[in-house]
Amino acid sequence: GTAQIGVTGLAVMGRNLARNFARNGFTVAVHNRTAAKTRALVEEFGEEGTFVAAESPEDFVAALERPRRLVIMVKAGEATDAVIQEFAPLLEKGDVIIDGGNAHFEDTRRRERELRERGIHFVGVGISGGEEGALHGPSIMPGGSAESYESLGPLLERIAAKAPDGTPCVTHVGPDGAGHFVKMVHNGIEYADMQLIAEAYHLLRTVAGYSPEKIAETFRDWNTGRLDSYLIEITAEVLAHVDAATGKPFVDVVEDEAEQKGTGRWTVQIALDLGVPVSGIAEAVFARSLSGHAELREAARSLTGPAANPLGEKEAAAFAAQVEQALYASKIVSYTQGFHQVQAGSQNYDWDVDPGAVAAIWRAGCIIRAAFLDRIRAAYDAQPELPSLLSDKRFGDEIGAAQDDWRAVIVAAARQGVPVPGFSAALAYYDALRAERLPAALTQGQRDFFGAHTYRRTDREGSFHTLWGGDRSEVSTG
Ligand code: 6PG
Repeated sequence: GTAQIGVTGLAVMGRNLARNFARNGFTVAVHNRTAAKTRALVEEFGEEGTFVAAESPEDFVAALERPRRLVIMVKAGEATDAVIQEFAPLLEKGDVIIDGGNAHFEDTRRRERELRERGIHFVGVGISGGEEGALHGPSIMPGGSAESYESLGPLLERIAAKAPDGTPCVTHVGPDGAGHFVKMVHNGIEYADMQLIAEAYHLLRTVAGYSPEKIAETFRDWNTGRLDSYLIEITAEVLAHVDAATGKPFVDVVEDEAEQKGTGRWTVQIALDLGVPVSGIAEAVFARSLSGHAELREAARSLTGPAANPLGEKEAAAFAAQVEQALYASKIVSYTQGFHQVQAGSQNYDWDVDPGAVAAIWRAGCIIRAAFLDRIRAAYDAQPELPSLLSDKRFGDEIGAAQDDWRAVIVAAARQGVPVPGFSAALAYYDALRAERLPAALTQGQRDFFGAHTYRRTDREGSFHTLWGGDRSEVSTG
């Protein structure tokens, strides 16, 4: 075979990824279950590079140079297992199967283990950036063996997005499921970012009394500062858009029920298992889920809230500046939580993930790309053992400078009845981490009272139990 890489599964992501490889000078074997799609790709985009159209799995495998590199771009779940079952028997030792879908990292770990026993490398790759990213340069998060990265890395570096300093947005994240795990956390952070932006919009609309057009302008302005990011940029576009049919702001004609395909939910499920407090991400998932409960919302619509009391024009401008502070501070917390999860996963699965390298490959190509990520990279580069992003001097100082406004915004939201679960959860996390003493001591006392669950003391080693039902003396339990 002559093709350096093959792509099977030519829905829009697979097709665009194949074109990206071809446009970067690689010979690409392409295959799809229905051959019409393969022919259509070559007919339409054949002049972009060198494609080898394969009709059957056998032709596809034969078209690849060895060791073979074969990218699967099908729906995550059973479809992926089916395609692996179909191709694995045709492969030889040392060949590499790459799964570019949004797979659950536990599935990736299982597939990697099973294929490793057959001498085949399996590389689960997180790919972010949507259709455009796949074509013009995504952020790429490969897991799998270090050996497979040697053969795959140079190709991925060519097709990946380039950070502002020119570095390709791809790195070997770690073994087996590390790449898909990190992509999952990326999506959790994506949900949190989107929720925080939505809350900022809601506050500007309700408390400041701004129109969608005015809010778009505000976001465009924020996008020139420290919030500079893809999500802020597209938010301005969406808010400025006017519905052609009604002449109303687009955002006012869309049903207000947010959907999800599940990757944000996975982030929270896994965080619960790992014991990582990703409260901001969790609130973002719950906010989507709440929005979708139309019947509950309908039944609650008549409940009492505060009287509307929008601000005057001058106060509104000052309030908008405070919202920017609250948004930025909450964003720092979301990323603190997300990176904590990356590190907890790395430790739990023994992946040795470099958090600075993860921040570096999120600087371009992916949905959460932002100027901000270069500062996270710098923080981890300066101090790889950083216990938390909040312990970075610069982020700590910034959040400290924002905290008064952040609190004021949450107070205003509560007064005016605007739900801000993301802002509030972030502030609660910040205040809890800073606290000298937490009421967790009381929780321990309660647990000991009703269940003899024991507690530790601040002044002595060991564990203890108070005889609550007796003379309330204390006994040592170990
Ligand atoms: C990306 C996106 C992409 C997709 C997700 C989220 O990184 O390119 O995260 O993976 O948009 O599926 O979609 P939901 O909002 O439907 O969960």
